[in-house]
Amino acid sequence: MVVTGATGRVGRHVVAGLRAAGADVRALSRRPKGGHVTGDLADPESLDSACAGADAAYLMWPFFGADAAPAVVAAIARHAKRIVLLSSGSVDGGVPGAEPIARFHAEVERAVEVGAPSWTVLRPAGFAANTLDWAPSIREDGVVRGAFPDAAGAWIHEKDIAAVAVKALLADGHRGRHYALTGPEVLTMAEQAHIIGAVTGRPVRWQKQSEDDARAGLTAEGWPATYADVALRVQEQLTRARPATTATVADITGRRPRTFREWAGDHAAAFLP
Ligand SMILES: NC(=O)c1ccc[n+]([C@@H]2O[C@H](COP(=O)([O-])OP(=O)(O)OC[C@H]3O[C@@H](n4cnc5c(N)ncnc54)[C@H](OP(=O)(O)O)[C@@H]3O)[C@@H](O)[C@H]2O)c1
Repeated sequence: MVVTGATGRVGRHVVAGLRAAGADVRALSRRPKGGHVTGDLADPESLDSACAGADAAYLMWPFFGADAAPAVVAAIARHAKRIVLLSSGSVDGGVPGAEPIARFHAEVERAVEVGAPSWTVLRPAGFAANTLDWAPSIREDGVVRGAFPDAAGAWIHEKDIAAVAVKALLADGHRGRHYALTGPEVLTMAEQAHIIGAVTGRPVRWQKQSEDDARAGLTAEGWPATYADVALRVQEQLTRARPATTATVADITGRRPRTFREWAGDHAAAFLP
């Protein structure tokens, strides 16, 4: 099994889940250390030796564009006949305002559907782990700064996405499926901040920013300006459109998806000084 993005939030749990199931795992990273294998999705040739002899691959897409997708899929599918793609819940129109992100994820999906003999596409909702972006200001002064505290999401724990990926990599029966994955509940971002405060025992308060300040904050974190705008537009729209939850995680893994409170418990240390 090949796991791309193996050092990432979802990928590291895909690696752990596959190893726990006894699978032979090649965990890819651009900067291999600690047992990782060299692989760079920006350099499809580097995937050839990394994928040799593998029968399946977990593919995550780290780029804000899909131009490289056909070559990457071809390089992987030369060896691994089954690809499980981490895509995005924005693709099926479920995230209003997210069109530019939905567009390139849809193109990557198409490259996988055309280029891999067997494929499964995972379309997760917003990650609970996005709140780790708040960790520095929560650690520092117990504050979250943002423009849209009422933006709501069906936030999903990265372990639940990974658990579905592991099932789809190891078991038959997931071929040709698009899975919409969500957490078990819909919460606003202000509610998430409150839960982090409750779980860590240090109250967290929301400090409302103007959109301009929020945009400057995102670009300072490294977001390309266009996608910072998209993120803010999505948040603004999610103050009005409440997303739906799905039963897919439970249906596939046999276990209810983890709540945001459980996620915050797993990551409490990140929010403590
Ligand atoms: N955040 C959300 O709410 C959300 C919602 C839906 C979908 N998604 C999608 O989820 C994906 C992110 O997944 P994640 O959170 O698990 O990842 P992540 O934690 O952001 O990790 C990024 C990973 O990408 C790898 N990477 C970066 N550039 C690479 C390259 N050129 N070649 C190979 N690997 C590269 C890094 O590996 P090395 O540095 O070790 O090479 C690292 O493992 C994105 O496609 C995003 O659109 C996110």
